[in-house]
Amino acid sequence: MREPRLAAAIGDLLARPGSLVRAVAAYLVGIEMGLVEESARAIACGLEYLHTASLVFDDLPSMDDARLRRGAACLHVTHGEGIAVLAALALVNRGYGLLWQGMQGSSAVRRARAGSLIDQCLGPDGLTGGQAYDLAGWRQEQSPAEVAEVAARKTGALLRLTLVLPALCGRASEREIRLLDRLALLRGLAYQAADDLKDVTATAEETGKSAGRDELLGRPNLVAAEGLDAALARFSRLVEVGDRVQGALPGDATRWGMLDALRVTAPAILPKGIKEAI
Ligand code: IPE
Ligand code: MG
Ligand code: MG
Ligand code: MG
Repeated sequence: MREPRLAAAIGDLLARPGSLVRAVAAYLVGIEMGLVEESARAIACGLEYLHTASLVFDDLPSMDDARLRRGAACLHVTHGEGIAVLAALALVNRGYGLLWQGMQGSSAVRRARAGSLIDQCLGPDGLTGGQAYDLAGWRQEQSPAEVAEVAARKTGALLRLTLVLPALCGRASEREIRLLDRLALLRGLAYQAADDLKDVTATAEETGKSAGRDELLGRPNLVAAEGLDAALARFSRLVEVGDRVQGALPGDATRWGMLDALRVTAPAILPKGIKEAI
């Protein structure tokens, strides 16, 4: 029998799946790139598990000390820190297993590249390293470039994996891989810019997660680094450049329609007061 407290925590975690935008994008890119359905699904679910686990770790008292996530109490609030850590590790474990399953039909060369990409995006030079920089707390001297560098790792890296892994495991050309990689980074930076803006301007009721964490904990935040207007301008620029990269992908625009869900825009993400100001 599965340990009941762990089972309950995993159940709670999976009962609140979030937007699933990464999973859907990865799945559809995989299908477009010729993966069999089972492989596309395994990669998509694996990535979503890894993403969800990263949020549980991110919310812990030793990290962002958040209380609210996806409109409900954080896992460690409901189940305690120990069980939350174990539930997240269970998802990490299953997540890697699913990625591995999804890669099995690809050539040895593509599998090897996929393995390096996973390590690069999730390891100490990717998400894990980005989270470590985040903890370093640069309240005084954070420059916008440094904040963007942290964002590229903590948020951009998982989005890169989301688009590039299924493409690489399928039959994407080098040009498609390059453009998808670039697009994912730009969408990731825009996403984190929006997240930074929301952390400062939105309430927990509006976003379903604890607000004002960055200021309180001295986390790298674009608004803190360059002010609201510059951060908004940067956000819009990132979205525009991303649109150009998406437009450069081979084939007509409808072929890549599945990528539109990763395109966050000001009306969709910003709270009412700020939307009226721009
Ligand atoms: C965390 O960034 C990114 C990861 C979970 C890797 P944030 O700490 O800004 O994310 P939120 O605001 O808690 O969602
Ligand atoms: Mg954080
Ligand atoms: Mg956080
Ligand atoms: Mg945030």
